[in-house]
Amino acid sequence: MKINDDAVRKALRHYADSVTLETFDEIESTNQWLSEHPPNDIGLVVAAVQSNGRGRRGRNWQSPNGGIYFSIGRRLTSTAVVPPSLPLVVGITLAEALTTIGAADVLVKWPNDVVVRGQKLAGILVERSSQTLIVGVGVNWHSLALSPDSPKDRAAIGLLDCVVGSHLPAKESVCGFLAKHVLDILALPQSGIEGFLDERWSRWDALADKAVTIDQSDGSTCHGLGAGVTAQGALRLLTNQGIAVMHSGEARVRGGWERVN
Ligand code: BTN
Repeated sequence: MKINDDAVRKALRHYADSVTLETFDEIESTNQWLSEHPPNDIGLVVAAVQSNGRGRRGRNWQSPNGGIYFSIGRRLTSTAVVPPSLPLVVGITLAEALTTIGAADVLVKWPNDVVVRGQKLAGILVERSSQTLIVGVGVNWHSLALSPDSPKDRAAIGLLDCVVGSHLPAKESVCGFLAKHVLDILALPQSGIEGFLDERWSRWDALADKAVTIDQSDGSTCHGLGAGVTAQGALRLLTNQGIAVMHSGEARVRGGWERVN
């Protein structure tokens, strides 16, 4: 399907003239494209379909026609440090934007999923390629079957099934609107990113007071109650031994999303 560039651009509002927009009917991965074609300043790449969409931890991100797939690349100085909390802050701004257009019950699940009642609505992949910061966002439009390599406790929900009682704008307008929100975040100084997280995390925290298991990449697990995040975006878990701070891992909610224990 063809992307309507004008509709994306219009929704970018004041960024429309300063951001280089590239759209593709089909591409391997918008994140991959930006790593191979670094922008001089800021670039936005939107695809209708991705043949090899990338997810976190080397997973595949199913990208059939109908979903929203975009990446924003921003040139960095060689010494610039990408704040570790950036994926969470991008998650918050997406959750706010999705709520604005009528999606109900949207929350952010550490480390970087946008969820609705425990089901994944959007994923965020922040990467650095040489001197380019790349923020990739995938939003399900229709509820999807899980990909074979997704953890079995994960279900995916589409935006069409989250918006109740209001009219969902066209896909390109939603895409541009979400990209505009991410661009707002990328314009913040580091202190602004920290302040944004501090002020807003508790409103959007999907794991707050939930019984959570964190699976770490070395195969170990940690159990506890979600107790917010640190200023750097690490998860705080209240365990039997006190507060544990998790810098990475996959979070599973035990006993369902509605129960605390
Ligand atoms: C995840 O939850 O695992 C992150 C998924 C990120 C998917 C988006 S879709 C647009 C961009 N291009 C990619 O190849 N991946 C990101």
